[in-house]
Amino acid sequence: MTVSAPLSARATARPLKDEEVARIRNDFPILETRVNGHPLNYLDSGATSQNPVSVMEAEQEFYEQRNAAVHRGAHTLAFAATEAFEAARATVAAFIGARTDEIVWTSNATEAVNLVAYSLSNASLGLGGEAAKRFRLGAGDEIVVTEMEHHANLIPWQQLALRTGATLRFIPVQDDGTLDLAAAGTVVGTRTRLLAFTHASNVVGTINPVAELVALARAVGALVLLDACQSVPHLPVDVAALDVDFAVFSGHKMLGPTGIGVLYAKAELLADLPPFLTGGSMITTVDMHTAEFLAPPQRFEAGTQRISQAIALAAAVDYLTETGMARIEAREAQLGHRLLAGLSDIPGVRVLGPGLGAERIGLASFDLAGVHAHDVGQYLDEAGIAVRVGHHCAQPLHRRLGVTASTRASTYLYTTTDEVDQFLATLREVAPFFGVRS
Ligand SMILES: Cc1ncc(COP(=O)(O)O)c(C=O)c1O
Repeated sequence: MTVSAPLSARATARPLKDEEVARIRNDFPILETRVNGHPLNYLDSGATSQNPVSVMEAEQEFYEQRNAAVHRGAHTLAFAATEAFEAARATVAAFIGARTDEIVWTSNATEAVNLVAYSLSNASLGLGGEAAKRFRLGAGDEIVVTEMEHHANLIPWQQLALRTGATLRFIPVQDDGTLDLAAAGTVVGTRTRLLAFTHASNVVGTINPVAELVALARAVGALVLLDACQSVPHLPVDVAALDVDFAVFSGHKMLGPTGIGVLYAKAELLADLPPFLTGGSMITTVDMHTAEFLAPPQRFEAGTQRISQAIALAAAVDYLTETGMARIEAREAQLGHRLLAGLSDIPGVRVLGPGLGAERIGLASFDLAGVHAHDVGQYLDEAGIAVRVGHHCAQPLHRRLGVTASTRASTYLYTTTDEVDQFLATLREVAPFFGVRS
């Protein structure tokens, strides 16, 4: 099969070539692994990505040469650790078009969403004083999400609604896995205080029209939070150009280690928001009854930080930048096109989400008639192929699409066309193996 057309009109850069991908793979030792007697075919980067040697070396170098707590000690090692930690913040900020003081480290994207939800909740309790009054939520206010959210960008808002008396509403998903934008225009209204939505779906792959959604929110003075977990690793993202108020993503999905996530927030919002976690490292003066807090971002970083992880994430960002995000996006668009075209050719396969030509990232989730996703996953695993099965932390979306579970194959910059083809060829064997006729 020759597939040369890009998946999406967005991806106009020169895609990474097969020879370049072959060189990239040399940087990822785990890709040499054999699984069940077969070369590992890792198609689960949507869940977590693999690490290049430079990322592992950055973490090791920190522990071998600079390990100390940051922003505390008056010794040389503490200065070196602080310098590397803050340089990592600057690297990540530049990567997404933010200011350095607009980057708050968290453990993962889930914690970043919770940080915003709890800060708004604290403001609603009256914390943060006059400056935080504009964040107060209560009965009559509305928080809007979409029906395609990962649970990480849904449950914190359900809980915030419960704590404040606000109402949670959602923009529905259409049969083809895209948002119903006409409905969005009526769901987002004068009561809307916050609109939280995913940039790219981890299940159906849809890339949502950020500009249109931001415009709806701006028209009613609502804040916007973008879940960028599946976009920042895969396409160029400029938060200032997108004009979102908050954005969240996780290091482990973009070649970095686990344990590090990022909250981007506009400086003027961070300046007025009360903190979520409190304790050491985020204060100026403390007495037995009160505490004064540091300026952002430190105000939101209580306790000893994830120092080696932040430094390793910066190494991951350097790797992505040197490779070129636009070229990665274009490559994954080709792989995604190949995946979709191949899946659509297999009897009994129903791809969830928009078809060829739509704005999608390079992953595909599907249902294979008559075979449970766990059986599909197990059969593929026997052949060394790693995919994700289940509801991918998006139960409402699966319910909306009429399935309880699906199988997801997701690509990244190290995925080869041969791996996509091997996956498709092996998948063809699954229904006959289980005696299912289509
Ligand atoms: C779209 C999306 N949002 C949020 C998350 C949560 O990321 P984490 O578990 O790293 O916090 C994920 C992870 O699968 C995701 O794909």
